[in-house]
Amino acid sequence: MAQPRMLILGAPGAGKGTQSAKITDEFDIDHVTTGDALRANKEMDISDMDTEYDTPREYMDQGELVPDAVVNAIVDEALSQADGFVLDGYPRNLEQADELEDMTDLDLALYLDVSEEELVHRLTGRRLDPETGDIYHVEYNPPEDPEVEDRLEQREDDTEETVKERLRVFRENTEPVIEHYEDEGSLERVDGEQAPEDVWEDVKKTIEDAA
Ligand code: AP5
Repeated sequence: MAQPRMLILGAPGAGKGTQSAKITDEFDIDHVTTGDALRANKEMDISDMDTEYDTPREYMDQGELVPDAVVNAIVDEALSQADGFVLDGYPRNLEQADELEDMTDLDLALYLDVSEEELVHRLTGRRLDPETGDIYHVEYNPPEDPEVEDRLEQREDDTEETVKERLRVFRENTEPVIEHYEDEGSLERVDGEQAPEDVWEDVKKTIEDAA
């Protein structure tokens, strides 16, 4: 596989962003992430799409899914410009999985498997560097540079209450997507509860084996 076309699936906090950064470096492909795209366009006016709320922010702050029409358009546009890609945060329900089938073929759907207790701990301790976009954790992966540490921010949807709602939405909407790829025979599971570098070793090998 010269440039893989792949999904990275997993619950909120499973490590999709952390591993995607390594995948894009190693395999020289695009990182297409609906979460980052929506955060960059939080205040976009979507009222003409017949949605309940007028902007993505209102959905995201409550841990709910942004309407499919908005997200499908973002992914369609990004994939049309990519040769190889790791798609992170999509599809999140079976309707999005159907849409994706019309957009592109996939080499692999990789699932990071992490227990719910660990997910809550990871999300509430996550911090982001607003200058570089790098992902840290107060306990598992703190920055070495005190200047970086001073400017770290917590994501608005990483509060305990919103995290619980995001996990509920994941169980209800996205677990059926994982079963769908499993039934299809294209799902590869990786134990995402190991240390980041051990997860990376398994992720890299899984992608290489799919070539
Ligand atoms: P999105 O941004 O996609 O968030 P998410 O799926 O909830 O995933 P996260 O980014 O929170 O976690 P991650 O798996 O990337 O973990 P990370 O690597 O950062 O979506 C946000 C919102 O946007 C949604 O709620 C929804 O409203 C909307 N949205 C997005 N896509 C949509 C779609 N398709 N349809 C509709 N709405 C959509 O790691 C987490 C923490 O753990 C970090 O601190 C990290 O340092 C640490 N960590 C990572 N790996 C390890 C490890 N192995 N050991 C210990 N710590 C680790």
